[in-house]
Amino acid sequence: MNFNVTKDFNQKFSKYVSIFFQDSVDICESVADNNKEFMKQIIAQDNFTGKNGEVLSLNLFQNNELINMVLIGAGPKDTFSSNEYRLTLYKALKSIKGDIFISSKEEILADPYLLSEVVSHINYRFDKYSEKKEDSLLKVTLFTDKNIDLTEITHLNNATLLTKDLINEQAEVMTPKKLAEITIAKGKEFGFEVEILEEEQIKELGMEAYLAVARASVNRPHLIVMRYFGDPNSDYIHGLVGKGLTYDSGGLSLKPTDSMVDMKDDMGGGAIVIGSMCAIAANKLKKNVIAVVAACENSIGSKAYRPGDIIGSMSGKYIEVLNTDAEGRLTLADAMTYISKVEKASEIIDVATLTGAVMIALGNAATGVFTNQEEMFKKIMKASSQWEENYWLLPIYPEYRKLIKSDIASIKNSTGRLASASTAAAFLEVFCESLPWVHLDVAGTASIDKDGEYYKKGGTGIGVKMLYSYIKD
Ligand code: BES
Ligand code: MN
Ligand code: ZN
Repeated sequence: MNFNVTKDFNQKFSKYVSIFFQDSVDICESVADNNKEFMKQIIAQDNFTGKNGEVLSLNLFQNNELINMVLIGAGPKDTFSSNEYRLTLYKALKSIKGDIFISSKEEILADPYLLSEVVSHINYRFDKYSEKKEDSLLKVTLFTDKNIDLTEITHLNNATLLTKDLINEQAEVMTPKKLAEITIAKGKEFGFEVEILEEEQIKELGMEAYLAVARASVNRPHLIVMRYFGDPNSDYIHGLVGKGLTYDSGGLSLKPTDSMVDMKDDMGGGAIVIGSMCAIAANKLKKNVIAVVAACENSIGSKAYRPGDIIGSMSGKYIEVLNTDAEGRLTLADAMTYISKVEKASEIIDVATLTGAVMIALGNAATGVFTNQEEMFKKIMKASSQWEENYWLLPIYPEYRKLIKSDIASIKNSTGRLASASTAAAFLEVFCESLPWVHLDVAGTASIDKDGEYYKKGGTGIGVKMLYSYIKD
């Protein structure tokens, strides 16, 4: 691990970082008297007052050694917010390398949990195919006189990194089978049960919508079921469903190349759900959680399902396919029926890179939330407020429910561009079996195509910490 806490002030590091609120910059007692005067003058000359994001780097010569110091400003104390502070730290620390020591006189600025999260994000890289590997990691030791247990946050950080890894791996490697194998290994490592259903069993269950999507690919579907029972005294089961398209070409309604390039990320919802299960089991939450990922690939070829086809589903409803690129909702429909009817979930949260439309509405800044139960939405908002993740409620108006009606089947899978994040949600709602349900459209947030203020390009790992907090409380 690259983050530690210590109560010992007298160790050697390559850099000493101090963090201050605005207008309360002072000099550490361990600095020798002559250097104190020197520092005061540099701070004054540079006009360093501790404004948010301000950084001052200086060298001192003390006890025959050159000491490298970095001062970081966290802005005014009375408007402090931990989310803004995350961004400040991320930005300031990401350019620093080596073995650094951090201290602050302000307890909220010396927050070990927040710092360990930031360091974990900074040190993440997916460079297995890259020629230039950034090798030097940031190693942080935080001074604190408190007793700190980093177990929970470390499990959460690692689960987040796993989710990033799953998303960032290319589709040729991260096939439905590979995703299933990794989940089995993680289940063993962290203590949850994993069952993989292969094609024959999926057929027996009548998951025709899922199978239609999976039909054309050489990479056959694998239904990944994860079960964790941490509370034997309760029969309440949290149900998680993750979209698991290991690649989405669009099928016969083929995507243009530019839109296809990032479609290895279309299992982002599944990756979030798998990461969440790891975090939940590793931290031994006293809750019961079942998660389902209907993993498959939406490919093209003579076996592909077609626009115009009418397909069955596990629920018994028939679906008119108007666009084979609206495939996520078909796999999710069967996964939702499965988790309610077979696994007897008490509520459902589905997580899916479902629509381009949610990105038009919210960009990369927030996950779109849809629900049939306001209480659940409020809990999601509460859980997410602890983390650097944004969620925003979007509507399912009766008008949208009308739009998805079909003349020749129960429902159709595509309605055109208007409100298409909402019509996709209205489609899923049909399959929630009247359970309390939340749909998270993470198309804009599960991965990003350029470096952001807190997340690097690629998989972000968002959702894992929120779902963990949601289920924990
Ligand atoms: N996986 C895509 C949604 C997506 C788009 C995710 C861009 C991330 C970035 C989904 O399967 C899809 O193709 N949706 C279509 C639905 C349409 C055909 C009704 C869309 O949003 O265009
Ligand atoms: Mn699609
Ligand atoms: Zn898709």
